[in-house]
Amino acid sequence: MLRCSTAFSCQITVRLSNVMLQTGSAFLSMSHRRETRGDARVKRRVLNMDITFLLNGETVELSDVSPTMTLLDWLREDRHLTGTKEGCNEGDCGACTVMVTDCDGAKALNACILFMPQLQGKAVRTVEGVSGPDDELHPVQQAMIDHHGSQCGFCTPGFVMSMTTAHLNGETDFDRQLAGNLCRCTGYAPIIRAAKAAASQPVPVWVKDAGRRVVDPASTPQNQPPYAPDNSDALAALYVANPDAVLVAGATDVGLWVTKGLRDLGTVIFLGNCADLKTIAIDKDTVRLGAMVDMNAMGAAINDLHPSYGEMIRRFASVQVRGAATVGGNIANGSPIGDNPPALIALDAVLHLRKGDSRRSLPLEEFFITYGKQDRRPGEFVEAVSFPRQTDRLKVYKLSKRFDQDISAVCGCFNITVEGGTVTAARIAFGGMAATPKRATAVETALIGQPWNSDTIGTAQAEFDVDYRPMTDMRASARYRLASAKAMLARYYADDQGELVSVLEVSA
Ligand SMILES: Cc1cc2nc3c(=O)[nH]c(=O)nc-3n(C[C@H](O)[C@H](O)[C@H](O)COP(=O)(O)OP(=O)(O)OC[C@H]3O[C@@H](n4cnc5c(N)ncnc54)[C@H](O)[C@@H]3O)c2cc1C
Ligand code: FES
Ligand code: FES
Repeated sequence: MLRCSTAFSCQITVRLSNVMLQTGSAFLSMSHRRETRGDARVKRRVLNMDITFLLNGETVELSDVSPTMTLLDWLREDRHLTGTKEGCNEGDCGACTVMVTDCDGAKALNACILFMPQLQGKAVRTVEGVSGPDDELHPVQQAMIDHHGSQCGFCTPGFVMSMTTAHLNGETDFDRQLAGNLCRCTGYAPIIRAAKAAASQPVPVWVKDAGRRVVDPASTPQNQPPYAPDNSDALAALYVANPDAVLVAGATDVGLWVTKGLRDLGTVIFLGNCADLKTIAIDKDTVRLGAMVDMNAMGAAINDLHPSYGEMIRRFASVQVRGAATVGGNIANGSPIGDNPPALIALDAVLHLRKGDSRRSLPLEEFFITYGKQDRRPGEFVEAVSFPRQTDRLKVYKLSKRFDQDISAVCGCFNITVEGGTVTAARIAFGGMAATPKRATAVETALIGQPWNSDTIGTAQAEFDVDYRPMTDMRASARYRLASAKAMLARYYADDQGELVSVLEVSA
C-alpha cells in the first residue's frame, strides 16, 4: 500500500495561468471539436477550477481550468506532450493510457476520458516520464525493444504505460492487464513476451519513489471552488443547491458526452474526493458498496462471495475503464445494457438514495422506470447499494461480440435456490432484453415449486417470450437475444450439474 507523503517538497513548480482562456491563433488552428469545447469553456468560465497535481514528478498548478478539459487534450495541446496518443477518444483503445497515483496506489487510466479536476492532488506519469533521470530505459521499454513489441508504434506508449503500472503493482495476469490496449500491427504475442520478461526485473527506483509522491494536501489551492466536495454531507448540500448540476463520478460515461457528444455540461460536481462513498462494508448479513467504489475494487471484493459475478467484472470494459468506472455511475446512468444492475437485482439488492439530509431505500429493480427514466429526484444522488449475504447460487453470463472490453448484447443473471430437488426461490434478471434492466418474473414463476430437472427448464424457457420483447440493434437481433436468454437458462442448469460451460474452458 502506498502512503501519501506530506513531506514532499517540489523542486520545480510549473505555473500555468489562464491556459483555458487562450484566444486567437492558437484556437483557430485547433479542430472543430476543440473549438466547440473552447466556446463552451468560455461560457462556463465562472465555474472553472484551480487544480494542483504532479506531472512526471513536477508540481503543476493550474488556474481557471475548464471542468471538462480532458487530460489528453491538455497534455497534447497545452503541454505538447504528444507521446500520449489519441486513438478512439472514448476509452476503447488504450492509446492514451497514463499512470495516475493517489493515496490508494497507482492505476492505469485513459487520459481521453479523464477530466482535469479529477487529477486534483494526484500524481500523473506519462510515457515521457517512464525512463530514468539519466535516460535509463524502464525494464518494460527495454523488453519491448528486445522482444520486438512495436511496429508502427502508435499503440506502444499506451502499452508501455499499462505495463509500467502492472509492473509497479506486481500484476502478472497480462491478458487481463492489457485487454484495454489495442494493437493493429504487431500482434499481441511479442508484447505479452515483453511483459513477462520485464516482470522478473525490479521496479526502478525512480518509478517506485515517484509512486509514493502525491501532492502535499497542504498545497491544495486556496480558491478551489466547492464543486469537488470531499464528503457526502458536503455533496448532499451542494447538489440540493444545484439540482441541475451534472454529477461526475468516474466519467467513463460522462466523458463521452463531451468527447463524442460535444456537450456543454453546465455546472459539474465531481464526486471523486468523497472518500466516504468509496467504502465496501461486508458483515455477516449484508454487503454494502458505496457509490464511488470503482469496478476494479468491486471485482476484488465480489470475487470471493460470488465468483461468477467477479468473472463478469473481469470482462467489464478494461483495467483502465474499471479503475475509473463506479458502481453508482453504472446504476445511475440507467443503461439497459449496464452489467451491474441485473447481477445486483438477482442478488436482491437495495439502492440507497440521499437528498439533502433525507435518505430513502428501494429495491434496485424499482429504480428503473422506463428507458432514460429512473426514480431519482432533483438533487438526489446514489449513496450506496447493498445486498444480503447468501449462499452463492449466482451465475452471471455476459454475452458480447468481443470477449474483453465490450458492451453486453445480453447479460443474464440467475440466482436459483434448489432444496431437496425442488426449486424454492428464483431471482433472474437480464440486461439487453428490455428498455431497462428487468426481472424475468414469468420464468421465475415457472421454476418455483417445480422439480429441478430438464423438463422444468424446457417449460420455463418458453416463459421468456412472456417476459421480454427485446429489440434488434447493432449488437444483436431480437431473435438472437431471446434464443440466447433461453440458452442461458439451460446453461445455468448444466453448470449446476457440473458440466463445463465456461467459454474459457473451450479449446480448439
Ligand atoms: C470503453 C468503455 C467500455 C465500457 N464497458 C462497459 C461494460 O462492459 N459494462 C458496463 O456496464 N458499462 C461499460 N461501460 C460504461 C461505463 O463504464 C459504466 O456505465 C460506468 O460504471 C459508469 O460509471 P462512472 O463512474 O464512470 O459514471 P459517470 O460517467 O461519472 O456517470 C454516469 C452517470 O451517472 C451519474 N452519476 C454518477 N454517480 C452518481 C451518483 N452517485 N448518484 C447519482 N448519479 C450519479 C452521472 O451524472 C451520469 O449521468 C464502458 C464504458 C467505456 C468508455
Ligand atoms: S484514445 Fe482510445 S482509449 Fe483514449
Ligand atoms: S505497433 Fe502499430 S498499432 Fe501497435
